[in-house]
Amino acid sequence: MIAPFAQRLHPLGSNVFDQMDQAKREARQSGLDLIDLSLGSSDLFPPPEALATVQSALSDPTTYGYTLFHDTVAFRAACAKWYEGKFGLEIDPETEVLPLIGSQQGTALLPLALLNPGDVALLTDPGYPSHVGGIHLAGGIPYYLPLLAEHSFLPQWNRIPEEICRQARLLVLSYPHNPTTATVTPEFWQEALHFCRQHQLVLAHDFPYVDWRFDGQVAPSALQADRDKTCTIEFFSLSKSYHMGGFRVAYAIGNRELIRALRLVKSTIDFHQYQGILRGAAAALAAPETFLHHWRQVYRERRDIAVAALHGIGWPVPLPEATMYLWAPLPAGYAGSSGQFCLDLVKTTGVALSPGSGFGLSGEGYVRFALVVEGSRLWEAVGRIGHFLAKGRGDALKNP
Ligand SMILES: Cc1ncc(COP(=O)(O)O)c(C=O)c1O
Repeated sequence: MIAPFAQRLHPLGSNVFDQMDQAKREARQSGLDLIDLSLGSSDLFPPPEALATVQSALSDPTTYGYTLFHDTVAFRAACAKWYEGKFGLEIDPETEVLPLIGSQQGTALLPLALLNPGDVALLTDPGYPSHVGGIHLAGGIPYYLPLLAEHSFLPQWNRIPEEICRQARLLVLSYPHNPTTATVTPEFWQEALHFCRQHQLVLAHDFPYVDWRFDGQVAPSALQADRDKTCTIEFFSLSKSYHMGGFRVAYAIGNRELIRALRLVKSTIDFHQYQGILRGAAAALAAPETFLHHWRQVYRERRDIAVAALHGIGWPVPLPEATMYLWAPLPAGYAGSSGQFCLDLVKTTGVALSPGSGFGLSGEGYVRFALVVEGSRLWEAVGRIGHFLAKGRGDALKNP
């Protein structure tokens, strides 16, 4: 008997996503044709030049050893150039960029660099699960900022108690937002920065959906508000813009003291990833903008197909301005939880969605669709959902 384990494991226990994983497996085993819209894992392809670069690295024996920080210089230079090109910011690749094995690594490890046990960190509810996971690992205390539809899924600064502000060290935000799909303006970042300066907080901005905005606007970087990088660190991932989720490649960029502290934590845990991956990622970052335009158009078309089809079955899902998701209030009249809805749906139709409650308490009452299959499969999925709803939810629909 090895238990009891460390107390820090308790808040990381099993969640509604584990139940969904199990339900997906059972749906497959029962012979259903699974349409998995529950994960934000892209089905699209990285730029060909990125794949070719990774491939050619395999025949270069100098890539086989450990990759230390100084071996990442070319990747860091590509990151800085990308930021400079997109946001007009000056970035020092030596001190202001840190390669990461996925941005999740960075947002989960940052609290270890910043929080002493008992320190408060502010984060959104709903939000991405690794944000709160990292705070728990560091022994920090999460204080949730509810994101509600009536406030356009934005935090209400004046609702945060003074006492909490005094105890807080860190504010974690992420826009365009997963799962609500909300976007922000540059003015929002001015306000967030003002709030952080007023209360001496670090501003951490998780920014993986920067390229999936459909209204012709460029998603603003928090660093455009904090041009001197006084207290901001931002996380960009190649998982979304370049469809390289399995490669696990991302970076942190911003305040050099924060970068140094995060590097210290990270270097205790791992080295950098395979040199070929970093070379491929640098090639992706250098790919022409037309690549991003093309995939943005693909996501936009999927969004339009899915929303139109859902409206067609009487489910008036809002049209998102950004991300690769739909954030849908549960169908009118449905009395159960989002978890129950998703479990029943996958069991009877093979269509897997994410329950809103998996992203936090304020996510209850919603489900998230990830638009990671072709339009024809989205039609198929919505058709099955239509049958499911028409039959009174939960009434088995074995062979749609
Ligand atoms: C807000 C947010 N941050 C981070 C990630 C994960 O990024 P990465 O693959 O770089 O760890 C996701 C993935 O869905 C996400 O939605």
